[in-house]
Amino acid sequence: RTARFALDPDFTVGTVDPRLFGSFVEHLGRCVYTGIFEPGHPSADEAGLRTDVLELVRELGVTAVRYPGGNFVSGYNWEDSVGPVEERPRRLDLAWRSTETNRFGLGEYIAFLKKIGPQAEPMMAVNLGTRGVAEALALQEYANHPSGTARSDLRIAHGDKDPYGIRLWCLGNEMDGPWQTGHKTAEEYGRLAAETARAMRQIEPDLELVACGSSGQGMETFAAWEATVLEHTYDLVDHISLHAYYEETDGDRDSFLASAVDTESFIENVVATCDHVGARLKSAKKINLSFDEWNVWYQSRPNPHPVEDWQEAPRILEDVYSVTDAVVFGSLLIALLRHADRVTVACLAQLVNVIAPIMTEPGGPAWRQTTFFPFAQASEHGRGEVLDVRVDSPTYETKKYGEVDLLHATAVRAEDGSVTVFAVNRDRTAPLPLEVALSRLDLTTVVEHTALSDADPDAVNTADDQERVTPHPVDGAALRDGTLTAVLEPLSWNVIRLR
Ligand code: AHR
Repeated sequence: RTARFALDPDFTVGTVDPRLFGSFVEHLGRCVYTGIFEPGHPSADEAGLRTDVLELVRELGVTAVRYPGGNFVSGYNWEDSVGPVEERPRRLDLAWRSTETNRFGLGEYIAFLKKIGPQAEPMMAVNLGTRGVAEALALQEYANHPSGTARSDLRIAHGDKDPYGIRLWCLGNEMDGPWQTGHKTAEEYGRLAAETARAMRQIEPDLELVACGSSGQGMETFAAWEATVLEHTYDLVDHISLHAYYEETDGDRDSFLASAVDTESFIENVVATCDHVGARLKSAKKINLSFDEWNVWYQSRPNPHPVEDWQEAPRILEDVYSVTDAVVFGSLLIALLRHADRVTVACLAQLVNVIAPIMTEPGGPAWRQTTFFPFAQASEHGRGEVLDVRVDSPTYETKKYGEVDLLHATAVRAEDGSVTVFAVNRDRTAPLPLEVALSRLDLTTVVEHTALSDADPDAVNTADDQERVTPHPVDGAALRDGTLTAVLEPLSWNVIRLR
C-alpha cells in the first residue's frame, strides 16, 4: 500500500506563470474596509492601509490582485472612486446589499499594490453589467494614458502623475450567472466583450484581456457559453475565466477531500472547448485559462453574524477554515499547478476576511487562517517547470467522484535544479507511504519535509488562538539511490523540498 510516481526532467507540463499565485480584493464585506484599509488602526500607514495586513500579504506571496469585483463590479462606477475622498458619493452596492462609501478606490488600490512590492500586479475588471464600451475606455484612459487628455490629466490632478500601467483586464464578471446585475446571454455578452476588447486594443494593442467563462462547471450553460463567447472574442482576448468553490455537504468529507477531481476536469473541459473553437476558426492561437476565483467556501452555512441591509462593510462570508479545508485547498493548488501549461492566471478568492487566508479584527489583530500556509508555501517553492506527475496510488470510494486516488501530487523544478514535491494524502485515518523515482534528476538531499495535519481535523486558527494550526516538520523522508521515500501523515498537505 504505497503510492508511487516517477519524475523526469524531460517530461514537463509547462512553466509556472507567477500570476498563478494571484488573489482577489472585492468591495465585499470587510475585505477592503477594516481588512486591507482601516484609517485609525494602530498599524495603519498615512494612506490608511493596515501594515500588519500588508506584512501578511507579502508573506503569502500573492502576485496579480484582481479588483474591484466580483459581483460588485457589475454595478460599479469607477468615477465614484477617484478624486477627493470627501466628495466621493455613497452608493448602493446591489450585489451585496451594502453601502459603498468609496473611501477606498482605484488610486488607493494601485497604492496598495505598490506597497505589497514589485511582485504584485493589477488585474482590473470593467463593468459590463450596467455599463459598456464607453465606460471601459474612459477607465482605461484615466488609468493608463500618460497625460494630455481630459481623463489622464484628471488622474494627474488627483495626485497620480504616473500612469497605472494596468496590463491585465477582466471583461466583466460571471456574466453567465442569473444573479449578476446586467446578466446576459452568451450571444449578448460575447458581442459586448468583443466590442469592448476591440476598442480597448485601439488604445493599447498589447493588453491582456480575460473573457468571462462560466461561474462553475455545474452551470446549465457550461461549455456552450464558452464556445459562443469565444466565437465572438477568439482573436481579441487572451484568457477565458473559470470560477469554482467547494464545500463539505451532508457530512460527506470523503467527496469534499476529492474536490480537485472537479477542478481538474473543469480545466480540461475548458481547454477542450477553447481548442475546439480554435480548430473551427482554423486558428493557431491558443486561449489560456484565468482561474480567477477559486477556494473553499461554505455557501450553505448560515451567517453567524447579524447583518442589516445596506450596512457598511458587513461581516459576511467570513468563513473560518479548518485543517481539512486547508488540505482540500492545497489539493486545489496542486490541480492548478498540474495544468500550468494552460492555467496562466489564477486568483485565490479572496484576500482578507471574505473567504480569505488572512483575517482581521477592526482595531485588533490580523492572523493567518489554515489555508494561508499551503498558498504561501506553493507561491514560494512552486516556481519553475512543472514536472509531469502520473501517480500510481491506492484509491478510495467517494459518492461524488467514484474511485479517487488517495495521493494527489505535483512537482516543480526551479531554475537551480532543486525540486519541490507538493502532495496531499486524502486518507483520513491512515498514513500513506510515498516512493518517488528521481533517477535522471541530479538530486541528493532532502532539504525539508513539512506537513499541515492535526490530530483534530477540525482545528482552526482564531483571534484568540492564532497559531493553533501551522505546518510542522516531518521526519523520515530519505533520498537513496535515486528514490525518495517519505510517509504522508493522515489527511495532510505536504511540501518535500529536494536538491
Ligand atoms: O468571491 C465571491 C463572489 O463569488 C464573487 O463576487 C463572484 O464573482 C462569485 O460568485
